[in-house]
Amino acid sequence: TAPAAVIVGIDGPSGTGKSSTSKAVAAKLGLRYLDTGAQYRAITWWMLSNGIDVNDAMAVAAAAGKPEIVSGTDPSAPAITVDGLDASAPIRTQEVTAAVSAVSAVPEVRTRLTELQRAIAAAAPAGIVVEGRDIGTTVLPDADVKIFLTASPEARAARRNGELKGKEAGDLAATQAALVKRDAADSGRKTSPLAKAADAVEVDTTELTLEQVIECVVTLVEEKRTA
Ligand code: DC
Repeated sequence: TAPAAVIVGIDGPSGTGKSSTSKAVAAKLGLRYLDTGAQYRAITWWMLSNGIDVNDAMAVAAAAGKPEIVSGTDPSAPAITVDGLDASAPIRTQEVTAAVSAVSAVPEVRTRLTELQRAIAAAAPAGIVVEGRDIGTTVLPDADVKIFLTASPEARAARRNGELKGKEAGDLAATQAALVKRDAADSGRKTSPLAKAADAVEVDTTELTLEQVIECVVTLVEEKRTA
């Protein structure tokens, strides 16, 4: 008989290497991959494109069910569409990044995406790596492996600036300030804030290479699989 599907939740603030780690772990272990942050960004992009004031929580709540969001789960080519349009590039703009915390604080938005995320995880035959902020605490509290990645604000800002290189990179201090502000909003919201689940393994990535973080998570998953 085939082994049971393994569900892995990876949470943490931005710039901790969550996406790179999650994709690599999924690819190595033959699992599907879901970027829940991309879904919050996609719904935010739709709100901005449709002239909805992202700071008007009532308007955001009323529109939360409207866009059709489809997430691909191939770790080597994660795709996301909104009403059939490829959203991969527009969800990474600074405009979306600046607006996403307000949209993701709205309970109707979270309820809708949480349901979608659970359905995607349940449909993954061999299992899935799901990355986000509230996977271990809220979306998949019964996940087989829960990881909480952290890193110093300096390390996170430096990585983030590296990602933006050539596109929209600003100075390091500005990147760090924006990142700290977004984390504070994500950690401080009422509905499923960014938080470490009591049973999550915390990995501080400040002094680790990406390869070391991947290896650490792969080992934790394999231990669980053979337990
Ligand atoms: O991981 P990211 O930076 O692409 O996520 C974008 C935003 O989405 C982040 O600022 C908070 C929100 N988010 C969330 O509220 N819950 C999740 N599970 C994932 C992301």
